Amino acid sequence: MKKRTFLAISASFVFAALITSCGSDTATVDETQVEEVVAEEVVAEVAEEKVVVEEAVSIDGAELFASNGCVACHQTEVKTVGPAITALKEAYSGNADGLTAFLKGEADAIVDVAMAAVMAPQIETTKAMSDDERATIVTYLLN
Ligand code: HEC
Repeated sequence: MKKRTFLAISASFVFAALITSCGSDTATVDETQVEEVVAEEVVAEVAEEKVVVEEAVSIDGAELFASNGCVACHQTEVKTVGPAITALKEAYSGNADGLTAFLKGEADAIVDVAMAAVMAPQIETTKAMSDDERATIVTYLLN
């Protein structure tokens, strides 16, 4: 083999080796970039879910009380069909757990026992609520 041919062949080996290593470097970078993109997507999804959760939590208690028909029988300060909200607040003051239990259908009425049969069907509505919604109503009624 002539010296020049040998040099040319070795040079092309080195070249090939360089290209190969370049190639694998590129592959590594690509994978890292893909992982970064995936990580960013996950972060974005988590952020979106957080917004949804925050929106759910920030649902107004007054709105829930109205949209579930509670206002039909409960006024803020005047007794109508049901006790006024002020009366509910007084009866359950410092007893959020007791109020939650009542709304879950796990505790008896304490405010107007004689009228309990009128409120009883409404418990189906409050039982069907999520824990967050019930907690929002409890917070609304006690504050
Ligand atoms: C059809 C009328 C009516 C509707 C609608 C109604 N209530 Fe009542 N509610 C009553 C009456 C009457 C009482 C009094 C009887 C009693 O104390 O359980 C009462 C009592 C209550 C009490 C006191 C429970 C206790 O310990 O005595 C709470 C709390 C309450 N209602 C929450 C709600 C919520 C929340 C809603 C909406 C999901 C609602 N009510 C819808 C009529 C109603």
